Amino acid sequence: MIKASDFGDDFLWGIAVAAAQIEGAPDKYGKGPSIWDTFSKKPGKACDFYHRFRDDLAFVKLLNFKVFRFSISWPRLLPFGSGLINQEGIKFYHEVIDECLRLGITPYITLYHWDLPEALEQEGGWASFSVNGAFNSFVELCGQEYGDKVKNWIVINEPFGFTSLGYMLGIHAPGQTGLTNFFSAVHHAAIAQADGGRILRSEVRNANIGTTFSCSEIIPFTESDADHLAAKRMDSLVNRLFIEPVLGMGYPTADWELLEKFAIKHSTWRHTERLTFDFDYIGLQNYFPLTIRYSPFVPILQAWEVKAKSRKKSFTAMGWEVNADSFYNIIKQFAAYPKIKQLMITENGAAYKDVVAPKGRIHDQERIAYFEAYLTALLKVKNEGIKITGYMAWTLMDNFEWAEGFDKRFGLIYTDFKTQERTIKDSGYWFRDFLSQ
Ligand code: BGC
Repeated sequence: MIKASDFGDDFLWGIAVAAAQIEGAPDKYGKGPSIWDTFSKKPGKACDFYHRFRDDLAFVKLLNFKVFRFSISWPRLLPFGSGLINQEGIKFYHEVIDECLRLGITPYITLYHWDLPEALEQEGGWASFSVNGAFNSFVELCGQEYGDKVKNWIVINEPFGFTSLGYMLGIHAPGQTGLTNFFSAVHHAAIAQADGGRILRSEVRNANIGTTFSCSEIIPFTESDADHLAAKRMDSLVNRLFIEPVLGMGYPTADWELLEKFAIKHSTWRHTERLTFDFDYIGLQNYFPLTIRYSPFVPILQAWEVKAKSRKKSFTAMGWEVNADSFYNIIKQFAAYPKIKQLMITENGAAYKDVVAPKGRIHDQERIAYFEAYLTALLKVKNEGIKITGYMAWTLMDNFEWAEGFDKRFGLIYTDFKTQERTIKDSGYWFRDFLSQ
């Protein structure tokens, strides 16, 4: 049985959350609307972290996590995206940071976890270059305001996630679709991640600056050449699109020439120096692998996912394959970039249908098995000498799971969304014990 001490004394153990998923108070205390408030049409109370953050941070402490990763809601600080500053918002995050520090918990701030101010979406959102100036002033404000207290930063959460789901497929906010929007959004997000790094470097003394990427091992369905090539195209899109420009390698067009053609046709997509930044660490977020086969029916990509269910593999409530070997493999894939200095796992976790048993206990054995398997794989990579400095579990408590609403539960703590009552699940107790050994 593995224990936290196997990872060494310096290894950082954290828990991650995001503003739009937990704060609530979407239209209170001076906050402006975000694209998610508009898109979900019923801005809800989420987890009411805004009012309960002291109790919630007490849970972080109780479960023995040393790091708390949270995001700042851009429209809470800048209700119109830029310009007017909401002092109540500024004060709120000072209070969250101060409470972390009081409890001996290290705060990690994510600057952008998907809640773009609606005012900026009205100007085209991430598909418009004007977002970059506004983003930079937001980063500058955060760095100046919190940089004395907070040294650990994450510029952007999963740029591939919000550009593909929100600007190509239209299933996440703001619900835009099409390749023109997508490629434009990709380019502006790529600029933002590097610009954000530079601004933090100049504003925050001794900052430890990272940014995060979603990643999935891409497994060809069969040994055929067609499936292998389809898998390579998918890998360029899912895993390489944002990391390679940061590292000065340009966009990954070698394995997928069409990417370049379309990108250039649809936007001002060019690799420039501005896309590169020397991050102190790269955050990897992994949940599942993707098994891919060639499909002539999918335009451009000509690749299709073969779902875990149809392959009779075990999967979570999201339909995502449980496969710890793929976690090992994708970490190795990223570790092979010589310019990455350090890796950190900034999200990993699983949704299951949690049932409240008598006496209010939640026996989420499947989630515990998931964490045990994934952490065992992580230890294996780490023991091979790969520089991984920490692990953050997703997530503290059940919350607003984007397009899934409140249905899918990822928390170590069960949230009763009617009463806001929190109940620690068995997986939460499992972490508490794991982290104390
Ligand atoms: C996102 C989280 C999300 C989680 C589970 C990650 O891609 O950063 O906000 O809740 O996946 O879907």
